[in-house]
Amino acid sequence: MYHGANNNSVAYNLWKMPSDETFFHYAVVTLFLITPPTYLSCRYTTAPYGRHHRKGWGPTIPSSLAWFLMESPTVWFTLVLFPLGQHKSNPKSIILISPFLFHYIHRTFIYPLRIYRSKKQYPVSIALMAFIYNLFNSYLQTRWVSQYADDYESDVWFWIRFCCGLLVFTVGMFVNVRSDMMLVRLKKKDDNVKNGYKIPRNGLFEYVSCANYFGEIVEWFGWAVMTGSWVGLGFMLYTCANLVPRAVANHKWYLEKFGEDYPKQRKAVFPFLY
Ligand SMILES: NC(=O)c1ccc[n+]([C@@H]2O[C@H](COP(=O)([O-])OP(=O)(O)OC[C@H]3O[C@@H](n4cnc5c(N)ncnc54)[C@H](OP(=O)(O)O)[C@@H]3O)[C@@H](O)[C@H]2O)c1
Repeated sequence: MYHGANNNSVAYNLWKMPSDETFFHYAVVTLFLITPPTYLSCRYTTAPYGRHHRKGWGPTIPSSLAWFLMESPTVWFTLVLFPLGQHKSNPKSIILISPFLFHYIHRTFIYPLRIYRSKKQYPVSIALMAFIYNLFNSYLQTRWVSQYADDYESDVWFWIRFCCGLLVFTVGMFVNVRSDMMLVRLKKKDDNVKNGYKIPRNGLFEYVSCANYFGEIVEWFGWAVMTGSWVGLGFMLYTCANLVPRAVANHKWYLEKFGEDYPKQRKAVFPFLY
């Protein structure tokens, strides 16, 4: 017994909690704490890759390799951590982690193949930051699903939440993947137009400049519903902190690049809103 701390004190609770639970607890808090500064830094410094690529960010590697390397923890780390959880054999836990893995198997293996022929370079510094975030986030999401989720017993509530969330997630992933494919195909069509960039048309691009980012945000909103957890909500908010400022920067870039030709009614990322 730790003498010198009463039963309600932080010190007593820290002493009482097993170490992974303590670590997990602080990791969740960290996710929420890093979200506002991430939003602010993305708002004032657009990550220097893709159309915003610029010198001064250190060595670079081909974009497709960067995407493969920096996204890979979401697959291998998830697969390493999942079996360590108490719910590793629970069918509900296995079903719950599947959409997360499905998204990231696509992002890690298929998306880099789609952009394989792009000559774009990606700064190692940015890829490293994304790699560290992906390690951290995979830890959070996987440990929640396979170890800390505590409502696998409540059948009805679990399935209602899972089905509603999965529906939203599926719509989001469809929009995200389809929009990415439309953009990548645009570039392949004519590499001489404004540095290979063209005005995207059709689908949700009629409403927003970054339909792929909108799809991604919808996906992780679905994930937050599916998991019904702080980690799911935190991940969705962090995705917004990352992608909304970038969408605003992309939107501004389109307006500057294409001027009067660019459709006036389009928003940056949220149809009719923003
Ligand atoms: N969860 C997160 O926090 C997070 C963070 C970042 C990205 N992502 C996801 O990762 C995916 C890729 O992100 P991104 O930032 O690279 O997206 P992006 O800037 O829209 O680029 C996607 C691909 O399309 C090409 N492209 C974009 N606009 C084009 C246009 N107008 N004409 C021709 N080609 C165009 C790009 O070429 P260039 O590379 O040459 O520009 C790139 O190959 C997205 O699905 C996004 O949602 C997720």
